[in-house]
Amino acid sequence: MLKGKHIILGISGGIAAYKSVYLLRLLIKAGAEVQVVITPSGKEFITPVTLSALSGKPVISEFFTANTGEWHSHVDLGLWADAMIIAPATASTIAKMANGVADNMLITTYLSAKAHVFVAPAMDLDMFAHPTTQRNIDMLRSYGNHIIEPTSGELASHLVGKGRMAEPESIVAQLEDFFKKGEDLKDKHVLITAGPTYEKIDPVRFIGNYSTGKMGYALAEEVANRGAKVTLVSGPVSIKAKHPSISVISIESAREMHDQCIRQFPLSDIAIMCAAVADYAPENTATKKIKREKDEIPVIKLVKNPDIAASLGQIKTESQKLIGFALETNNEIVNAQDKLKRKNLDAIVLNSLQDKGAGFGTDTNKISIFFANGNRQDFPLKAKTEVAKDIIDAILK
Ligand code: CTP
Repeated sequence: MLKGKHIILGISGGIAAYKSVYLLRLLIKAGAEVQVVITPSGKEFITPVTLSALSGKPVISEFFTANTGEWHSHVDLGLWADAMIIAPATASTIAKMANGVADNMLITTYLSAKAHVFVAPAMDLDMFAHPTTQRNIDMLRSYGNHIIEPTSGELASHLVGKGRMAEPESIVAQLEDFFKKGEDLKDKHVLITAGPTYEKIDPVRFIGNYSTGKMGYALAEEVANRGAKVTLVSGPVSIKAKHPSISVISIESAREMHDQCIRQFPLSDIAIMCAAVADYAPENTATKKIKREKDEIPVIKLVKNPDIAASLGQIKTESQKLIGFALETNNEIVNAQDKLKRKNLDAIVLNSLQDKGAGFGTDTNKISIFFANGNRQDFPLKAKTEVAKDIIDAILK
């Protein structure tokens, strides 16, 4: 998978830098073209001569080559790369990455990189466990970077704990896995609904719900990372899609979401209905703001919204897959299985509001997936980005 891939290997100043030599060797052996970028303190641990001999390219560290004045373009480098790996990533480099402190070539290259970035932290156990480091790592993760978890064991300080950089073989395996997954949904079109719907009462009020769209957007990013073209029909949310293969169609009401989905579904191989769609809408929308009356309490008559998932279930062809979600508060399994059948879905993802950390607004979710063939898969509480991976893995299987 790594043959011919352009990889930037960023090395910062930690004792684990010696492992980067092995990492570089493995990448070259696997057929990758590697450009090493090292921080000034990285050079205290490992010499550029070793790295350039192995990579077959001059190592970049400074913005300019002192004797020739040649400028090293971090922008060109960022565009050239298919992936960037920062190994080891020290606490300081992680902090600079998280906050955009562009005071060395490694950070400017990171900020210019269009490709996926893999970060392999390496530091003493207390530095790693410190809330500041953990917050910075969470920030990097939230920007779409891949964190290669350090392992536990004896550290340079002779203390024992979590902070050892992952072994070069494991880093290469994760990179290969990433490139392999990028082919999973190549040439496929995936339709995803996300977020809430707003059903207008008057120009200033609506009926809505607490959905933030995080799960649907995480699914869209995951599917796009695996090579698919994604149409994301989204209700009003404050988050943005990042991947260039995601086209967002913004809607407000369930009716608008329905009409867009009916249009897009025939072009799609897979549809994932993640939106929290309002079941009812006001029969009439007042054109002017409804005023407070002295004696009368206004009554808003509701009418049923179309069931989008069920409509797609009716027109689904043999080759298409339709996945639904069920957010339940009670009788979860019975309700989810009922929806699976009633809407003619191929699978339904159940999350229960009874589980702490699951459902609307949170960054985590705890799911079970029920398949039309009677199979069931349960998962522990995880970050929504990880849940998205589990869902797509399960669907592909
Ligand atoms: N759904 C939909 N259109 C609707 C309502 C729901 O497409 N009008 C989809 C959701 O996106 C989800 C699945 O159907 O994938 C189940 O949604 P849910 O709100 O749990 O089910 P409902 O059918 O609305 O049932 P209830 O509200 O009674 O639980």
